[in-house]
Amino acid sequence: MLIPIVVQVCLLVMVSGETLSNARPKCFYNETVDLRNYESLSNGSYLYRDILIEPEKLAFYEYRIKFLGRRVKAERHLRGCICDTSKRRYCINLCCEVGETYNKTSTRCEPMPVLSSWPMQIPMVLMNGTKVNVALLDHFVYKVDLPCKKPEWLLIENEPWELNEDGILQILEKSDAVIDDYADLGTVSYCITPYLPNSTKNYVLAPMSCPIKNEKTFLMTLNTYSMTVSVIFLIPTIIIYILLKSLRSSISGRM
Ligand SMILES: *[C@@H]1O[C@H](CO)[C@@H](O)[C@H](O)[C@H]1NC(C)=O
Ligand SMILES: *[C@@H]1O[C@H](CO)[C@@H](O)[C@H](O)[C@H]1NC(C)=O
Ligand SMILES: *[C@@H]1O[C@H](CO)[C@@H](O)[C@H](O)[C@H]1NC(C)=O
Ligand SMILES: *[C@@H]1O[C@H](CO)[C@@H](O)[C@H](O)[C@H]1NC(C)=O
Ligand SMILES: *[C@@H]1O[C@H](CO)[C@@H](O)[C@H](O)[C@H]1NC(C)=O
Repeated sequence: MLIPIVVQVCLLVMVSGETLSNARPKCFYNETVDLRNYESLSNGSYLYRDILIEPEKLAFYEYRIKFLGRRVKAERHLRGCICDTSKRRYCINLCCEVGETYNKTSTRCEPMPVLSSWPMQIPMVLMNGTKVNVALLDHFVYKVDLPCKKPEWLLIENEPWELNEDGILQILEKSDAVIDDYADLGTVSYCITPYLPNSTKNYVLAPMSCPIKNEKTFLMTLNTYSMTVSVIFLIPTIIIYILLKSLRSSISGRM
């Protein structure tokens, strides 16, 4: 009596397993880099800066992922996996190429002013909580991408942030914050570029992220977003629960 059900379940698992493996990306999107402007080596590998990307780490994408995981359609392009948490090779997003800075007025990347040098150091928090200053490009593999068309500065005095060793940017809570939690931004949600503080002549590295008018609206956006995600996950959970329940009652009904 049980056999038809068992067969059905097996078939279901096989079918869904197959569609999954067809669509399975080689790594997370935030671990890949756009290889449009790179040429393949004769054996099919790609060289991104000094990282060799083997053919099995390549895939075509027809979208890009932006601020807070928003997926936007894009022309079909090749991406390769370059970041690898298991090898402690972490990635960072620069808003512009090294040697350039993002001009918020023109919303474009521009070369650094003649007498200014591109800053190297950035404060970072190690896994064990120790704060250190690191040379950004020594610690991270960098990619260049904007989280949205018009990112805004996350200045430490308004939106206190901490850059984690793994590339996650934490926006720290302020006393009048709307939510209690930290807001964690993945590498698709922010980028880093030189910033010239009012009071100094030297540029520092600072993150930029998307539609932030002030902390409240920013944190509210995040809050709404995470609520939406929970609801989205709730629906399949309920469906599976109902399916399992009816499966169980039909099994026990037949015994
Ligand atoms: C492909 O070529 C590059 C450079 O010539 C080499 O370093 C790499 O090991 C080769 N990869 C494979 C899989 O043979
Ligand atoms: C940024 O762009 C604006 C408008 O194009 C320009 O007037 C301004 O000088 C630029 N700022 C810097 C620092 O280059
Ligand atoms: C954290 O780790 C770093 C590097 O591994 C080490 O130098 C430092 O002493 C550690 N700090 C603490 C508080 O364990
Ligand atoms: C990359 O994406 C994965 C899956 O969405 C997420 O779990 C991870 O925290 C992200 N990492 C970074 C550094 O953005
Ligand atoms: C920097 O200058 C801008 C415009 O002049 C001003 O709005 C801002 O409050 C200043 N920031 C600091 C930290 O003084």
